[in-house]
Amino acid sequence: MAPEERPAALDELSAKVAVCERCQLCKNRTQAVFGVGSATAPVVFVGEGPGADEDRLGEPFVGAAGQLLNAMLGAAGFQREEIYIANVVKCRPPGNRNPLPEEMALCQGYLYQQLEIIRPQMIFALGKFAIQSLLGHTGAIAKVRGRIHHWRGTPVAASYHPAFFLRAPTRKREGWEDLLRLRAHMRT
Ligand code: URA
Repeated sequence: MAPEERPAALDELSAKVAVCERCQLCKNRTQAVFGVGSATAPVVFVGEGPGADEDRLGEPFVGAAGQLLNAMLGAAGFQREEIYIANVVKCRPPGNRNPLPEEMALCQGYLYQQLEIIRPQMIFALGKFAIQSLLGHTGAIAKVRGRIHHWRGTPVAASYHPAFFLRAPTRKREGWEDLLRLRAHMRT
C-alpha cells in the first residue's frame, strides 16, 4: 500500500474496532484502544492490552507503564510521534487480568492488519502476550530476546513488558539493551 493511503486504511480499521463485539471484552470497555502514531512508522511497538488509563483515554501506554516506556524510548532516540504503538487486545480485560487465549485469537487479526498496513521496518514485541501473538513463543522471554525473529517477513525484536520493569527496576538494563539493539539493527 502506498504510504499516502495508509492513514485512511488505519482510520477505516479503527472504525471497525471501535464497534467490535467479537469477544466479551467489549462489554466492560469504556472504548476500544486502537493504536497511536505514524502510519508510516519505521517501528511498531506491540504491548498486551489497555489498562484503566488507556481504557479511559483511548490511547495505548498512557499510564504508569507508558510513562516508563516513553522515558526509555526518548533515551534511545525514538519520538513517540514517529513510531506506532498498538496492543494485542484492543479492549481492557476486567481488573487488568491477562487476556484469555480466545480473546487474543479473536482480536489479533486487527493487530496483524495494522502491521500489514504500516509495513514497518521492525516490530518490537513488549512482553509475553505480544511475543506469543507475533512469534508463537510461549516460553521464557529470556529465550527470545537478544535475537531477531520474523513475523510474516518483518524482523521482530522482543523484550520484557515495561510493567515488569516497574515491579523489578533492577532489570531495566535488559530492556534498555534490547532497545539499543533495536536502534542499531534499524541503522543497518
Ligand atoms: N500495557 C499494555 O500492554 N498496553 C497498554 O496500552 C498499557 C499498558
